Amino acid sequence: MARTVVTGHAGFIGFHLAQRLLNQGNVVLGIDGMTDYYDPQLKRDRLAQLRRTENFTHEERMLEHRDEIVALILRFQPDAIVHLAAQAGVRYSLENPAAYIESNVLGTFTVLEAARQAKPKHLLMASTSSVYGGNQKVPFAETDRTDAPISLYAATKKAGEDLAHSYSSLHQLPTTAFRFFTVYGPWGRPDMALFKFVDAIQHGRAIDVYGNGEMRRDFTYIDDLVDGIVGLLDRPPALGRPVSQLDSLSAVAPFRSVNIGGGNPVGLMDFIAAIEDSLGQKARANLLPMQTGDMVETYAEPALLEALIGRAPRTPLSQGVREFVNWYNNYCAGFREE
Ligand SMILES: NC(=O)c1ccc[n+]([C@@H]2O[C@H](COP(=O)([O-])OP(=O)(O)OC[C@H]3O[C@@H](n4cnc5c(N)ncnc54)[C@H](O)[C@@H]3O)[C@@H](O)[C@H]2O)c1
Repeated sequence: MARTVVTGHAGFIGFHLAQRLLNQGNVVLGIDGMTDYYDPQLKRDRLAQLRRTENFTHEERMLEHRDEIVALILRFQPDAIVHLAAQAGVRYSLENPAAYIESNVLGTFTVLEAARQAKPKHLLMASTSSVYGGNQKVPFAETDRTDAPISLYAATKKAGEDLAHSYSSLHQLPTTAFRFFTVYGPWGRPDMALFKFVDAIQHGRAIDVYGNGEMRRDFTYIDDLVDGIVGLLDRPPALGRPVSQLDSLSAVAPFRSVNIGGGNPVGLMDFIAAIEDSLGQKARANLLPMQTGDMVETYAEPALLEALIGRAPRTPLSQGVREFVNWYNNYCAGFREE
């Protein structure tokens, strides 16, 4: 039974991870500021699910309150910290850049200070495929350059990776930075394409399809993503011990970045077709140009993940979309726990 801090546990990914850890009999301290970037009712409803489980503590706090958060984590004495709390979303970083600096840079600094003092066996933190920025070469490999961010969101996540690398080097803190690729599934985020498209089609509205539908993405089903995080929890990086030639392990710190993506890009129009199949309804699409900061094609080289945990995401898109639509229909039919 391990003791794990999960930041951002009321968020989409943190909720699923906390649920898995609790179901496996672990003790979880969740820290989440319950921000209103999207409807906090969805966060409260996720939380109500977690509260059904023993061994779970919820702390509603912003990570920027450094002294409080560090004290909280020190008292808990974690074996591991999984840092998922962040201001997410590429497009919103044009509208509210300060939220990204505060949550992703200052918030991550707090987590690093807590880790330096609490000395968990492993610190894991969420980064993003967006750090590959303007790179032309696909699939994206962890050893590719990540010094050309094209959104402030990406720049703040990359800053988080770099801050963590310095702490890992200075304090011998085993650290894994995951780079997630478009995660989707039940309890998903209302600002992401799947939720928005299903909601619009169900209500007879047209959907806005950016990049004229030519974007391609590695869509990662939430259960596969959680398998990846849980698999990596027990694989803290060790200095001088790479697992393969493709390992991104730092030469000077027990630090590596790992893609969690399946390496099977799907075009946006095929994604929409999967939604139409699931709903049994056709979408009306407004084809629009690319939005500033968006990338045309992102997909993962999954070889490092496979070398570390023996598998990569594999749920077929049609199945994952069906699971989302089932959840959406139940949830929006008035399911509220609080
Ligand atoms: N969902 C994806 O496709 C995706 C892709 C790449 C990376 N990521 C990363 O994965 C992580 C989780 O994303 P998600 O999709 O679950 O997002 P989410 O917005 O659903 O969850 C993030 C949670 O963090 C909390 N939070 C935000 N700022 C905070 C702060 N300063 N202090 C305390 N709590 C704060 C929010 O209240 C929210 O509940 C993020 O780090 C995100 O950048 C997600």
